[in-house]
Amino acid sequence: MGQLDGKRAIVTGGASGFGKVISQALAREGASVAVWDVRKEGAEGTAKTVEAAGGKATGVAVDVSDSASVQMAMAQSVEALGGVDIMVNCAGVMYRTPIIEMPVEEWTQVISINLTGMFLCCQAVSRQMIEQGTGGKIVNFASGRGVTGSVNSAHYAASKGGVLAFTTTLGMEVAPHGINANSICPGATDTPMMRGGLTEEQVQSRMSSDVPYNKRIGKPEDIIGPILFLVSESSKDMYGQTLFIKTP
Ligand SMILES: NC(=O)c1ccc[n+]([C@@H]2O[C@H](COP(=O)([O-])OP(=O)(O)OC[C@H]3O[C@@H](n4cnc5c(N)ncnc54)[C@H](O)[C@@H]3O)[C@@H](O)[C@H]2O)c1
Repeated sequence: MGQLDGKRAIVTGGASGFGKVISQALAREGASVAVWDVRKEGAEGTAKTVEAAGGKATGVAVDVSDSASVQMAMAQSVEALGGVDIMVNCAGVMYRTPIIEMPVEEWTQVISINLTGMFLCCQAVSRQMIEQGTGGKIVNFASGRGVTGSVNSAHYAASKGGVLAFTTTLGMEVAPHGINANSICPGATDTPMMRGGLTEEQVQSRMSSDVPYNKRIGKPEDIIGPILFLVSESSKDMYGQTLFIKTP
């Protein structure tokens, strides 16, 4: 018996990093999972790993920054799963560019995916959960960078600060419907996003400086315990909160 037997979950950004291990973990606990990603083959690849381990999953191609695409993916997932009880929003991008060199197109892309995409996914799943009348759990990936700022990633920091404020508000708006919406801020973690454009030496020095207290570079799997808490009944009185895994 898993703690999520019979639950139906959507995980965005499920092709890679946090989203991949979360898709696998929710399925191990008994949930059927729709794995969303802009990289269709990646989403299907994660779904295959779930099925190979005896779980239930389907890969769904979606661009979270596109309203029509999100609505289509939601309809496809609801049909495949029979409804939605859990949504974990991991999809995101991060680039390293100083503000004075940043093209407005890059700024707009980061905000569109990380912040507008979060709004579109949360709006779609909240409407679905309210229509079902079953309540539900929503977990949004923010970042400590949304509080501290991030040199050479101002667009990323701004988008994640926006996710924190958005989720606080969402939590209050949907709580009356029995939906718990919260955000989570992982510490620096070894994923393709964090490694993008850095040498191994830069990764080691950046990650150590980003985690000054326990000096431990995170692995994506480290997030499984906190996520299972946020999608469980143990967190039923938490809404609009932010769970910081490491001090921002
Ligand atoms: N890795 C870290 O140290 C760290 C720290 C704090 C927060 N986060 C957050 O965790 C989340 C997951 O990041 P990760 O580190 O696993 O990175 P990752 O790059 O491994 O995963 C991000 C996934 O999002 C997908 N994606 C990108 N644009 C998309 C779009 N428009 N529509 C749908 N999917 C899209 C990518 O294809 C990828 O599979 C992100 O929101 C990130 O900001 C990461």
